[in-house]
Amino acid sequence: MQNIAEVLKKNGQTQILDALNKLSGAGYEKLKKQIEEIDWDGLSVLIRDYVMHKPVTTIPDDLAPASYFPLVPKDAEQEALYKRAFEKGVELIRDGKVAALTVAGGQGTRLGFDGPKGTYPITPVLHKTLFQYFAESLGRVSEKYGHRIPWFIMTSELNDKATREFFQAHDFFGLPKDSVQFFTQGFMPAVDYSGKVLMSAPDSIALTPDGHGGTLLALRKWGCLDRMKELGVEYISYFQVDNPLVPVANPLLLGLHALENSEMSSIMLSKTNAFEKLGNFCVTGGKLQIIEYSDMPKELAERTTNGKLDFIAGSPAIHVISRSFIERLTKGGKLDLPWHRADKKVAYVNADGTLVKPEEPNAVKLESFIFDALPLASTTIILEADRKECFAPTKNATGVDSAESCRAMLCARDARRMDLAGIPVPRKADGSPDCTVELSPRKIFDDADAVEFFRKNPVKAPERGACVAYE
Ligand code: UD1
Repeated sequence: MQNIAEVLKKNGQTQILDALNKLSGAGYEKLKKQIEEIDWDGLSVLIRDYVMHKPVTTIPDDLAPASYFPLVPKDAEQEALYKRAFEKGVELIRDGKVAALTVAGGQGTRLGFDGPKGTYPITPVLHKTLFQYFAESLGRVSEKYGHRIPWFIMTSELNDKATREFFQAHDFFGLPKDSVQFFTQGFMPAVDYSGKVLMSAPDSIALTPDGHGGTLLALRKWGCLDRMKELGVEYISYFQVDNPLVPVANPLLLGLHALENSEMSSIMLSKTNAFEKLGNFCVTGGKLQIIEYSDMPKELAERTTNGKLDFIAGSPAIHVISRSFIERLTKGGKLDLPWHRADKKVAYVNADGTLVKPEEPNAVKLESFIFDALPLASTTIILEADRKECFAPTKNATGVDSAESCRAMLCARDARRMDLAGIPVPRKADGSPDCTVELSPRKIFDDADAVEFFRKNPVKAPERGACVAYE
């Protein structure tokens, strides 16, 4: 107690001590534990650098667009490389060297959904949730290549319990329980503009997830790296919970990653416009870096050569990461990634114990980003992908990157697969499906699966306006 009091006084956070002194029993113990878990001296430095001063993102003078492996191989040699890489990727999955990792610790505030984002019903016909969609997809790809891919899911304190309960209640969507491992990311206290840590309740500090950069340390902290090693996993297929269109394991990317001895590899998409909300792949000082859309200067974002955006390469946050790279980065239980400041409305309990819900941003949340590990990798590669086959993020309630646009993209991809399988889907004048179709990821992981599925289960073409799922 003496020690806690001294540390809090020294760091100018006596409001936390006052709150603690008002408590007894379980509330006291809860807050005391939170206080003990925070590195208050370290936090004071961050408050000085990121809260009391607004950090300015400096854009290096030599910033240049990053090069990437194109979607369509540029020559016969590259074509042969892609073929070898695909086969290598399949071999890695078959040999048990691949794990899947989903980051699902975010709060999903923009979606306006009260619950873990992965429990959001997303598919257009059967309303399967994001978690179910990934689970079925992983089930199929494991079956297809003859090896169970272990699945690591990162939650945060805010949604860990609800996420685990959801999987229990749905019997892990048919996956063996021991193939799914949850782990929680770290947290950071929310700090008001005067540098004071806020309380979210009389017995709790206002804690927020520490960003997906926290994944790397959390993997070590919760023994996931050891578990992967035990299982023989060398490569991690990383994706975000908000994107059900992602191939949960991409043989081509996995294979290229291994053949090129990359430590961290990424999928890139051509941005639809200069200001699309995607991180930008850039190079500075010979190192790959992602500059977040919000930090990219307008003139650079808009710069073109021969009518094409210079910084065309956007990140859908799909990566392959080597386990050994994460082990190296987190050696000794420490990891140095830069912090990013976000100004947010954070509800707090004031000194009188009243809950205040601010109308305007009142506090700073600090997050680290996993892609800030890219410059620390000895080798990186980027592979271009077709957006229609891998990126349909569910971020907003309506409009761009919404549940609605995501459903339309899932339906369009499945309609394309039906066409490919010889079942013509009725189309509107603009080429979009004039019906709603949904193929089951339990049976269909890729185009070849779709052709095979409909060969074995012939169906009539759907009618205009129909709404039909094929399980
Ligand atoms: C993110 C990327 C952006 C990329 C885009 C693609 C960041 C900062 N930016 O933008 O470069 O182009 O996705 O869709 O990530 N998450 C956690 N813990 C956290 C914070 C986030 O697990 O503490 C997870 C979320 O659950 C989500 C993902 O990370 O799955 C992305 O987070 P979000 O804040 O939605 O990032 P975006 O701004 O959409």
